[in-house]
Amino acid sequence: MNDCIILIGFMGAGKTTVGKILAKDLGYDLIDTDTIIESRLNMKISDIFRDFGEAYFRKEEKAVIHGLSFNRPAVISCGGGSVLDSDNADILKAFGKIIYLKVSAETVCERTADDTSRPLLSKGNISELLKSRDEIYSKVCDFSIDTDCLKATEIADKIKKMLKY
Ligand code: S3P
Repeated sequence: MNDCIILIGFMGAGKTTVGKILAKDLGYDLIDTDTIIESRLNMKISDIFRDFGEAYFRKEEKAVIHGLSFNRPAVISCGGGSVLDSDNADILKAFGKIIYLKVSAETVCERTADDTSRPLLSKGNISELLKSRDEIYSKVCDFSIDTDCLKATEIADKIKKMLKY
């Protein structure tokens, strides 16, 4: 399968929301790696981090990505750290086009101000973390989109245009 659309980017970039819109518009399946991890372990992401730590979460994330299989094309919304692992990035690349939803630290702060579901955000290191990841996201992606000033529907439209749907 190489006609999936893979959404990557920082927490709060809108991957899940845009993924839902795209999947609906295109009649694709929607795969959300975090949702799969949560249902495999029957635990919230924040509880997995709290009880077992980040390394354990990353192992689960990798297992989920390596276990993906498709009958039909899908939109894959990836957890923000998933492509930091180059094996994960290689596998995802083979499934289709990778789109990086770019977002500024200010926007992430605004969107996630009351968010308690993302353990890595609580450490108050958003701009540092974003800076260190931007290079990787940019290297891994086929296309990137600046999303700060766009609505989710506009982002989905842009992606469809980029991919000539
Ligand atoms: C993470 C992002 C989260 C989730 C976990 C770790 C990250 O997903 O996978 O909290 O390392 O960026 P979202 O990007 O969907 O928030």
